[in-house]
Amino acid sequence: MALRNILPDTNELLHKECKKVTIFDDNLRTLIDDMRETMYANKGVGLAAPQVGILKQVCVVDTGENNYTELVNPEIIYKKGMCNDVEGCLSIQGVWGYVDRPKKIIVKAFDRFGKEITVRASDYYARAICHEIDHLHGIVFTDIMTERFVPKKKEKGEEK
Ligand code: NI
Repeated sequence: MALRNILPDTNELLHKECKKVTIFDDNLRTLIDDMRETMYANKGVGLAAPQVGILKQVCVVDTGENNYTELVNPEIIYKKGMCNDVEGCLSIQGVWGYVDRPKKIIVKAFDRFGKEITVRASDYYARAICHEIDHLHGIVFTDIMTERFVPKKKEKGEEK
């Protein structure tokens, strides 16, 4: 396994449609292992293949709630509700913004061996998956955010 470099969103690869995976081989599994390691090393809650320069429909998510998920060719087949909340991105340092996302989703995808899987997600987990799936279609959150979020600066002497 190896850490991969995360591209900034100024790189054109982050704005392109990714290709569906058709071959479930060791190269794919190495990519997924590397993406997982890279996500954890950067304390991210998700990472999509184009962020490491690979235009394939592959992403990983872990919101820290014991829900590590690998998705190949993911497709949202059901959405319910709507929620506006803050998100950020490992490719866009220092920027956060409010984005509308469904509250609940069902995603159809494949695992690393080409087996079909179904993932049900809600709230923050659903948000993270939607964010990563957007990456696979060349969309970054700043393209669709409703408002920028500016963290409050701590005043001198203010308690934590
Ligand atoms: Ni992102």
